[in-house]
Amino acid sequence: MIRVVVLVSGGGTNLQALLDSKAAGKFPQAEIVMVLSNRKKAYALERAKAAGIPAVYLPTVRYDSNEAYGMALRDLLLENKVDLIVLAGFLVVLDKCVIEAFPNRIINIHPSLIPSFCGDGFYGLKVHEEALRRGVKVTGATVHFVDSGTDTGPIILQKAVDILPDDTPESLQLRVMQQAEWKLLPEAVRLFSEGRLKVEGRICQIQGE
Ligand code: GAR
Repeated sequence: MIRVVVLVSGGGTNLQALLDSKAAGKFPQAEIVMVLSNRKKAYALERAKAAGIPAVYLPTVRYDSNEAYGMALRDLLLENKVDLIVLAGFLVVLDKCVIEAFPNRIINIHPSLIPSFCGDGFYGLKVHEEALRRGVKVTGATVHFVDSGTDTGPIILQKAVDILPDDTPESLQLRVMQQAEWKLLPEAVRLFSEGRLKVEGRICQIQGE
């Protein structure tokens, strides 16, 4: 069984999509063994508890530096013999010690078609504000492996979503979640758990398609 930990900071709708997919039998070869948040009030922690999954609060303020936080997080993940780490709206920049401990075993969901509207400072609603400001007609979401850069790792899955003339950042965010994020993330976990993601350099290929 592939042991999955989901890292969150907010509402946890992507976590909920994973929990619902697991309950529906979409990825029988993976189990979510822990949900961890850097924010005590993250509603995602309540979602984990409701599903009977250990919910851990690991605050950054307890540590002197991002590196110290990263070391504590890495050690916790290693102790729990984690195979796959899912960043589902986790707003802490992962220290390189975490990334080095889990090469091609950390995936992130980002609410745009990478390489558009990504990198430092692009997260959550800001991504959709920028897409609307630029006037693009199509946006979407991306699931990718995490490497040492910000949103630069091998792309696993992407899905396009049309922008409508009356969209606000909020309406666009919701549609990108509904049409893309909540589908892509469980699908990526399924593919990983079936051993079908092969990474060579910056390219991730899906085997058996
Ligand atoms: C999601 O839209 C996710 O793509 C985004 O944060 C939101 C979390 O929502 N992540 C990023 O912007 C990462 N750069 P959720 O807590 O409801 O899943």
